[in-house]
Amino acid sequence: MFKIPRIIVYVLMIGGCIALIPPLVFARMRATPSPNRPIHIFWDMDFQPKFKAQAPNPLFADGRAMRPPVQGSVARGESYVDTHMFEGVVDGQWATALPTSMKLDQATLERGQQRFNIYCSACHGYSGYGDGAVNQRAMELVSNVNGPVNGTQWVAAKSLHDETTRHQPMGQLFNTITHGIRNMAGYGAQISVTDRWAIAAYVKALQFSQDAGSSGAKVAGAAN
Ligand code: HEC
Repeated sequence: MFKIPRIIVYVLMIGGCIALIPPLVFARMRATPSPNRPIHIFWDMDFQPKFKAQAPNPLFADGRAMRPPVQGSVARGESYVDTHMFEGVVDGQWATALPTSMKLDQATLERGQQRFNIYCSACHGYSGYGDGAVNQRAMELVSNVNGPVNGTQWVAAKSLHDETTRHQPMGQLFNTITHGIRNMAGYGAQISVTDRWAIAAYVKALQFSQDAGSSGAKVAGAAN
């Protein structure tokens, strides 16, 4: 029978033992904490130049790499503390007065009137009856005897003296101006917060001007 030479058996045995060394070294290295970064074969973008948190940066006068948030930043999802000012809501109810930082005076109402005439009168009309020029023209197109011109569709701008609108609190008007309602678009992006309040105050005055009654008892309710 063929016999394996002894020397080959020894070589294989020793070679086998030596071959065990690298896996043992790896196993040992994996189990031992090290301050060095692991061997990275594909770097991708792991080690790009950057400033880490709390690191210095001579570019800025205060020498800090971390920049403070710009003044007035509002974190995503952070609610405004002043719900009266920004949502028209006080204690879960529509506000019935201007935010405390604003004054209900001639100047505010005049500003409100001016803004109303710019932004609202086109549809609602200068006196708020929903008879603005855009509305009139659209109604004309819609009610054409041969059917709506060019398939025009239009929802009539509501009269602000409508029974359902007349008694709305100022905060609700503010909300309508801000977000729009049903077919009316919102004006939150175009009109500043204080101007929206001024318009709401003016709309209350406008409504009161058409609904004063003889006693004048609604003065407070209308003005506020
Ligand atoms: C492009 C035309 C248009 C403009 C401009 C417009 N509105 Fe309107 N508004 C409408 C229409 C249309 C409705 C009725 C929406 C519906 O019923 O679907 C409406 C409804 C309203 C209502 C009734 C809300 C309710 O609860 O029923 C108020 C209040 C109002 N608008 C205020 C304003 C104010 C204040 C402005 C100016 C900042 C303004 N609108 C600008 C078209 C307009």
